[in-house]
Amino acid sequence: MINATKDPGLANKISTVSDGKVKKHIKLAEITYRRNTESDFTEKIEELDRNFNYSSNSDYYWGEPELSLLYGTPLYEQASSSQKLALNHLYWATQYNQTAATEANAVLYNQVTAGVFRAFSDYEALCQELDLETAQERHHIHAFHMMGYKTKKALLGSTFNTSIQGKSYKKNDLRRGVTRRQIFTFNMLGSPLSGFQETALRFVTNKVILRKQAHCYSQYLRELEEKGESIPAQTTGLLGQLAPRPFLQFFTVNCGTSPFLACLFYVTRFMANMLIKNYEYRYSQYYRELEKQGEFIPAPLAVSHYHLLDEAFHTTTSQLIARELYKDFPKPTAYEKFLANLTIYRAQVVVLSGLSGGIPAIFRQDDTFMLSFYRLLQSPVFNMSDREALQWLQKCMCQEHDGFHLTFKYHQRLLSDLRRLFEPIHYLWSGNRQMSVMASGGSIDKAIQNNIKAFEQFSQTIT
Ligand SMILES: [Fe+2]
Ligand SMILES: [Fe+2]
Repeated sequence: MINATKDPGLANKISTVSDGKVKKHIKLAEITYRRNTESDFTEKIEELDRNFNYSSNSDYYWGEPELSLLYGTPLYEQASSSQKLALNHLYWATQYNQTAATEANAVLYNQVTAGVFRAFSDYEALCQELDLETAQERHHIHAFHMMGYKTKKALLGSTFNTSIQGKSYKKNDLRRGVTRRQIFTFNMLGSPLSGFQETALRFVTNKVILRKQAHCYSQYLRELEEKGESIPAQTTGLLGQLAPRPFLQFFTVNCGTSPFLACLFYVTRFMANMLIKNYEYRYSQYYRELEKQGEFIPAPLAVSHYHLLDEAFHTTTSQLIARELYKDFPKPTAYEKFLANLTIYRAQVVVLSGLSGGIPAIFRQDDTFMLSFYRLLQSPVFNMSDREALQWLQKCMCQEHDGFHLTFKYHQRLLSDLRRLFEPIHYLWSGNRQMSVMASGGSIDKAIQNNIKAFEQFSQTIT
């Protein structure tokens, strides 16, 4: 049985698994923490970040050619070698821009949930590991942002400079609520709750919905509350896109109150870990090939490789909490199970329900990227006129080509990995365990039909 430091009476009735299993979970967390502390991958990333200079890396591929924007499209076939290099570099910047946003979710929710686990005396090593992971994510995020920024600035030139100053694109773009700043980003906007609503939300969650677990209320959230700060929530990254901000604030309070829902966060973190690993593993393989042949290793490729190694610890932690640790706590109520399943269902809908024809290994529909592709075609990389850009956009998005098949291949691998990993999580609905929304999004025909509709709408907005 585990010991609750704040409610000793809870210790005898809390766990649904044997003492042996609980001890095993604690031991695993201790081993992960020790190994992670002994590693130096984050330090290597920091150094690569500090010394990064785009021009010293610009003549080399940063990953296999298939890890390039627009790979497999008719435009890629005709692109010059310098354009192909640019697409390879911009793919790295795009993927890691999204990775940085998702890791910012981890920075927040690692702290929120560690504040819950700390209410139990046995999980100190786990909490220390979460603190270490949070610190590592901050360095990862910095490297991804800085290296991505320098890359985009070098390749997209004044187009990108304007965006950094926050100027808008065209009237049409403003109508769509999109600015240049958002090239190849994945956002959802929402309005914050008022102070009164926040107080009500904390009250309803702690006193009504999860009242039996209010003693586990996250120390981290309690401290924010004492400072008069609002309930934190993010509107980017995998979690940040699942719902408008007020719902995410509600989610934060739930994860910061119920040990079961604190564990649920690690199911979403596990999905994010696997989503990143799905392409990052390819970078790491390429790194090893170059290393074996004694060839020059571009800094972004080295960052990907060391990130994969750092993330191996994080994935172990996610897996432990998502698949095992939740059993150490009381069985979830119907409400907790519902919220957990709804979250996983939304995660499938938002980030895994399509196939991109222009960004390999991205499982979303291309409608949200139309403007980004259009801008890319008009940027110094391709220098196309409005008309040319629209024509090529149509060719690349609305007809079958190898790019769709490549993303489909990555899709199938991730789908079978997630199904295998979610199989033992018994509280999941079968549609979540089987990833049925993701499975039904794995259709090239559907992706093209969606793109045809999205392109029609886009071309009317832009002309
Ligand atoms: Fe990371
Ligand atoms: Fe991580």
